Amino acid sequence: MGTEPHIVLGIESSCDETAVALVTADRRVLAERIASQEAEHAPYGGVVPEIAARAHAERLAPMLEGVMADAGLTLADVDAIAATAGPRLIGGVMVGLVSGKALAMASDKPLIAVNHLEGHALSPRLADADLAFPYLLLLVSGGHCQILAVEGVGQYRRLATTIDDALGEAFDKTAKILGLGYPGGPAVEKLAREGDAKAVPLPRPLKGSKEPHFSFAGLKSAVLRAHESGEHKRADIAASFQQAAVDCLIDRLTKALNENGPFPALVVAGGVAANQSVRGALEALAAEHEMRFVAPPLKLCTDNASMIAWAGCERLVRDPEFAGDPLDLKARPRWPLDPEADAVRGAGVKA
Ligand code: KG4
Ligand code: ZN
Repeated sequence: MGTEPHIVLGIESSCDETAVALVTADRRVLAERIASQEAEHAPYGGVVPEIAARAHAERLAPMLEGVMADAGLTLADVDAIAATAGPRLIGGVMVGLVSGKALAMASDKPLIAVNHLEGHALSPRLADADLAFPYLLLLVSGGHCQILAVEGVGQYRRLATTIDDALGEAFDKTAKILGLGYPGGPAVEKLAREGDAKAVPLPRPLKGSKEPHFSFAGLKSAVLRAHESGEHKRADIAASFQQAAVDCLIDRLTKALNENGPFPALVVAGGVAANQSVRGALEALAAEHEMRFVAPPLKLCTDNASMIAWAGCERLVRDPEFAGDPLDLKARPRWPLDPEADAVRGAGVKA
């Protein structure tokens, strides 16, 4: 490899976005394409794994070709191929990972197997060159709700996680209950703007609890009861739900800061980080604790391939001699970022 900044090709296919990007180690996104599968999954009110895997398989190859053409590059110009290798929907992950392996083999370039969560965790550093380690990260997506101390590339300490549902999942289920369709988060946020956040009494599960974790299952059930009672406007339920969720986030983050801080920066990533109420509350919390607040631009919050390519860049920069992950590496449906983290109580716990 020469002295030019590394160029990494990134592939993401772990949920319902098929995405490909070319990113440089000096933070330039040379090209990116993303295809959402919203239309395919909408009739089912959620992501159907088999449909997702098929759609990734159909779209990925032409998108790879398209991104290389957009950037005017060939595989010979690329330093490594980074593909999401887990966690989440295994069929989709396998499509992206196998494609990455094939490209790595054909071009004799290293394969970098990226943990999707690591992609989210490092994505704020792609957008913000001044964001240094360590930082306190709230990772809130459709599959995860975690507080992490991000201490370096590959060094993540999980301080809290959800004992039941992820926050994005709670947004999606609230949307379903209110008949807002899929994907739910943006629809709930939009309707909440017209509602009164104090109108519907809803619980704040685990608020004030001694354990550090999140819980959203009880909130979701309370939303269902409030809706079925017929006593509340949908907009009021949406606004009250969003407020309850934000209150839980702030309570748990305050605890994490008090017990593990200080940190120079509070950072948010993942799909729910696109929510303006969440962003606003976190910004205020950061100001209160005299921390910088960093939130990536919206298109870096929801699933994308630039964050996967960027995680690959971070790995190459940390270890220039890195020869690549083995080509027989397996896709992982579960893959905790912090292998040392204690198991938490509750069924259906998201690692
Ligand atoms: O990170 P992401 O794209 O995929 C996962 O890795 O899960 O996150 C998707 C999740 C979905 O649950 C979606 O409803 C939620 O992020 N989301 C939002 C908003 N935009 C996306 N939730 C609340 N408000 C939003 N504006
Ligand atoms: Zn994600």
